[in-house]
Amino acid sequence: MTSTKITTTKVIAKKTKPATDQLEFGRHFTDHMFVMDYHTDKGWYDPRIVPYQAITLDPAAMVYHYGQTVFEGLKAYVTETNDVHLFRPEQNVKRLNRSNERMCIPEIDEELALRALKELVKLEKEWIPNAPGTSLYIRPFVIATEPYLGVAPSKQYKFVIILSPVGAYYKEGINPVKIAVENKYIRAIKGGTGEAKTAGNYAGSLIAQEKVSDAGYAQVLWLDGLEKKYIEEVGSMNVFFKINGEVITPALNGSILPGVTRNSVIQLLKHWNIPVKEEKIALEDIKIAYKNGSLEEAFGAGTAAVISPIGEFACEDETIVINNHQTGDLAKRLYDTLTGIQYGKIKDPFDWIV
Ligand code: COI
Repeated sequence: MTSTKITTTKVIAKKTKPATDQLEFGRHFTDHMFVMDYHTDKGWYDPRIVPYQAITLDPAAMVYHYGQTVFEGLKAYVTETNDVHLFRPEQNVKRLNRSNERMCIPEIDEELALRALKELVKLEKEWIPNAPGTSLYIRPFVIATEPYLGVAPSKQYKFVIILSPVGAYYKEGINPVKIAVENKYIRAIKGGTGEAKTAGNYAGSLIAQEKVSDAGYAQVLWLDGLEKKYIEEVGSMNVFFKINGEVITPALNGSILPGVTRNSVIQLLKHWNIPVKEEKIALEDIKIAYKNGSLEEAFGAGTAAVISPIGEFACEDETIVINNHQTGDLAKRLYDTLTGIQYGKIKDPFDWIV
């Protein structure tokens, strides 16, 4: 690192901000972005905030060919007292580096990455929407930029942070979504890249999503890659079930993304003395729980949607309807508490807010 001071070049003319009721997820972007470059000879250098602009790369840039890239996602919230909250941002920066390690991308100084995030968000404060359920989505990412077609780790990279004012991720909001169990495609396998937040995991999942969306399903339920027996994730989220008063989520096994929201849900449940366990969950056991009436709730958990209740699972041989397609009490309590903490309406007993 030649200099850790972040320089700032401001835009001359600011963009018109979208109306709050027009906000989708990830459609609009703010006036500025953070950029930092890497070269093996220099390390990470030239951290800077610049006007939001296109990135021009050589057509041979390695990210285009071999997908050496990682990303993160977190949000900034504005409170009623006009403070800006970040939710556990250090967790995202740590995970960024774990993803970097898996994808042979050089480590990024965590203090600098956090400072970059904070400085950029501070500069763009007026872009943080304040209507209920809205926030400023923060998307840090790294791309391999060396122009070279050999299959090897790139010698050059860009670390970029862009910001997007967002509304709800699913149009359904906190209303239950329908999920189809995916029997053909797999998202990840132990030893693969499932644990890393890297583009290929998402690109490879699109076909499954495409296949079911015409039939009205919001997402697919991913099963393990070996036996297609155990539940892994739902769409791009971690998944939780409430069975007989106990909450259960698939244990992190090497192919599941270690979600920050997942971890926060587990901590909250423990705080409330609600039994929660992380272990292998067979789809068959969910079917049994459904049949004997002990399957009370199911929901996805992720930064973008926070908590997304599941109203129905379509399996090959049967359809599992949960809680009569109604939002469960626990999903609602978790959603209200997490968003309450994020928007500063509820006391944060965990020191999650920065
Ligand atoms: C999240 O739930 O935050 C995700 O990972 C979805 C994101 C890729 C849009």
